[in-house]
Amino acid sequence: MSGEQLYDTIGAAYTVTRRTDPRIATQIWAALGDARTVLNVGAGTGSYEPSDRVVTAVEPSATMRAQRPAGAAPCVAATAESLPFRDRSFDAAMALATVDHWRDPVAGLREMRRVARRVVVFTHDAGDPGRFWLTRDYLPEHPRLWAGRPSVAELAGAIGARVEPVSVPWDCADGFYEAYWRRPEAYLDERVRRGMSVWARVGPAAERRAVHGLRDDLASGRWAERNRDLLGLDAAVLDSRLLIA
Ligand SMILES: C[S@@+](CC[C@H](N)C(=O)[O-])C[C@H]1O[C@@H](n2cnc3c(N)ncnc32)[C@H](O)[C@@H]1O
Repeated sequence: MSGEQLYDTIGAAYTVTRRTDPRIATQIWAALGDARTVLNVGAGTGSYEPSDRVVTAVEPSATMRAQRPAGAAPCVAATAESLPFRDRSFDAAMALATVDHWRDPVAGLREMRRVARRVVVFTHDAGDPGRFWLTRDYLPEHPRLWAGRPSVAELAGAIGARVEPVSVPWDCADGFYEAYWRRPEAYLDERVRRGMSVWARVGPAAERRAVHGLRDDLASGRWAERNRDLLGLDAAVLDSRLLIA
């Protein structure tokens, strides 16, 4: 299934848990520098679109386009791999939580490089399954989802980007996969999981097993014992990364 078909299927409830986190937005907007015109590729419902710049959005899923708020930036139905814009049309192009879903991520990033002078990508580094307890202890299927996909280093290399870690606040407002690292009970909530494509991709059997395992470990105190180092942190660097070229 293509990334666009996936979001036509699972995207209807996206805005229940997915929205701009202001601290991550600050890092993304700083990376955009003084760009006045910004292309948002795989824009979804418009999270992280800065209101003080001229934004154009690209989003292939009709389900996602339909949830963009009234007054949001104009949105073109297209994919990253074939952007319908001339060379150097924008000061900057950004792609946030979307590269994982592209059929050909390197081609998409090269397209962004072609149409914009600066490229900013918010993605995750799947290289170390031990960094995040949810993957490490409950969802061993997670790393297999990225088998055969380019690593963060390969993505960065394709566009000459530097890689910055992204520190995820304990109360992150945007409910992506690792956002609830200090709020483990959140993963027991079906509405929270439906905002994360990973669960649809691993399938219902793995999801059930992971949720049951986590529920048991929360009840027995095993989760707290294993993860006591996290409980005092206000923010954590896990797998989230920013690529800036
Ligand atoms: C997790 S959502 C992220 C949306 C938004 N950027 C955000 O931060 O909330 C991933 C988005 O990527 C889009 N997408 C999937 N395949 C794509 C492609 N080939 N090119 C551009 N966008 C794609 C999906 O339709 C979906 O809206």
